[in-house]
Amino acid sequence: MTMSLAVRFEGIEKQFGPVRVLHGVSFELAPGRIYGLLGENGAGKSTLMKILAGYERPSAGELYIDERQREFASSRDAEHAGIVLIHQELNLADHLSIVQNMFLGHELKKGFFLDEPAMREAARASLNEVGLHKNPDTRVRDLIVAEKQLVEIAKAMLRDARLLIMDEPTATLTPAETQRLFGLMTRLKDAGTTIVYISHKLDEVERITDDVIVMRDGRFVARAPTAELTRQQMANLMVGREVSDMFPDKPPLAEDAPVALEVAQASVPGWAHDVSFAVREGEVFGFAGLVGAGRTELFEALVGLRPSSAARIVINGKTVELKNPRDAMRHGLTYLSEDRKGRGLHVDMALKDNLTMMTLERYAHPLVDTRAERGALAVAMKDFGIRTGNASSRARMLSGGNQQKLALAKFLNPDPRVIVLDEPTRGVDVGAKRDIYFLIHRLAAEGRAVIVISSELIELIGLCHRVAVMRAGELVATLGMDLLTEERLIAHATGTH
Ligand SMILES: Nc1ncnc2c1ncn2[C@@H]1O[C@H](COP(=O)(O)OP(=O)(O)OP(=O)(O)O)[C@@H](O)[C@H]1O
Ligand SMILES: [Mg+2]
Repeated sequence: MTMSLAVRFEGIEKQFGPVRVLHGVSFELAPGRIYGLLGENGAGKSTLMKILAGYERPSAGELYIDERQREFASSRDAEHAGIVLIHQELNLADHLSIVQNMFLGHELKKGFFLDEPAMREAARASLNEVGLHKNPDTRVRDLIVAEKQLVEIAKAMLRDARLLIMDEPTATLTPAETQRLFGLMTRLKDAGTTIVYISHKLDEVERITDDVIVMRDGRFVARAPTAELTRQQMANLMVGREVSDMFPDKPPLAEDAPVALEVAQASVPGWAHDVSFAVREGEVFGFAGLVGAGRTELFEALVGLRPSSAARIVINGKTVELKNPRDAMRHGLTYLSEDRKGRGLHVDMALKDNLTMMTLERYAHPLVDTRAERGALAVAMKDFGIRTGNASSRARMLSGGNQQKLALAKFLNPDPRVIVLDEPTRGVDVGAKRDIYFLIHRLAAEGRAVIVISSELIELIGLCHRVAVMRAGELVATLGMDLLTEERLIAHATGTH
């Protein structure tokens, strides 16, 4: 039985160099409840929770655990006090196995030796609990993003937390996996664990949390029992103004608009079979399906990131062969991967270098004109609403949602004709989401073809002229605007049609 734990923040401040990101945050968490922590990208949610979990030190202010003032020197210190954080940016070592990752720094020993069977057994039980049926010896690099997230959660389960912080744990999960996670959270809460749940998915916050706490611009702004707030009110509190009409009107699509991208009989061994579709200029074309349906793998193969067979790709009337994403870009097609950290951004490079990386020739004559680069960054920050106190920082220092916006800016910088966006609003707050929706429609209105892969059906319905549904590697249906409903999309995706 876990002992309950209460937390009190007293005037917490945090500065990174000259930039202040937390301004005197004070509030309390009562034991044995599930708290939703809400706020726009960059509001300071992750930073505050890293302070609580010993990953960061506050610049000022006090932290009380069960009414005792504590200063954690490290995350290990916080773990001893029963506080465990599941990171937003997955923190696993790619080259190690699942079980090695789960016990890293906490290895079980038998005498002098590692007790491998015991670790494997415990890992298996914990993986089972979160619903990931993988051999614990599988290398983490061979897992997809959602599976890595489940490993992070299973790893946290091993630590026997009294306070568990989950930083956007469901961003990559399917509805079924999320449901299972919620079951687990409810069991933990019943056993007395306090949970802080950070998410931009307000429907989930509504379903699973007891109270919500809202932060804005590094300050605490509100707390209330979840049942007393509507989603609209939550959004308004986060943004500090009324948020309305998430989706703009769809741009008109001419009946005779020329085809911008045609894909015929694309097959990806193990993932997709004989997929054909065509997208017209000015069209927003969606891809729905469960995780594992093969959408990401299909597009990775089309741009040469994995082997495929027999695909015929025609861009603007020209049959092309795409060897890699750069090649695709030269032919006018850009693909923004769902795995931002792995393939989207170079997190240790400066913001401006990330932005201009794919179009460097534009800025080099022959020396790179860094002033022009900085100018381009200023424009992109405004266009995409990228928020940071320090424009010359590295991408790693941006909040999760702001990294996402930077990745979008980077991939649109080459001015492509066909744009493939894989989960473009993952981890993005309501205000920024709306900005991205407007941007997608602007791109389409300019005559580009935009393909959106998304696990949020509402988003596909609100954005797209047509939505293709994939199930187990096959394109099973394409629904036009008049047929787009959540029920139909789910029925096709699950095969219960
Ligand atoms: N190591 C760092 N160095 C400099 N600035 C940082 C660092 N870590 C975070 N920041 C800044 O602190 C602010 C708050 O970031 P934080 O990650 O806490 O936001 P968040 O509320 O979790 O946002 P999101 O919803 O996008 O995850 C941001 O402006 C971010 O750029
Ligand atoms: Mg965050």
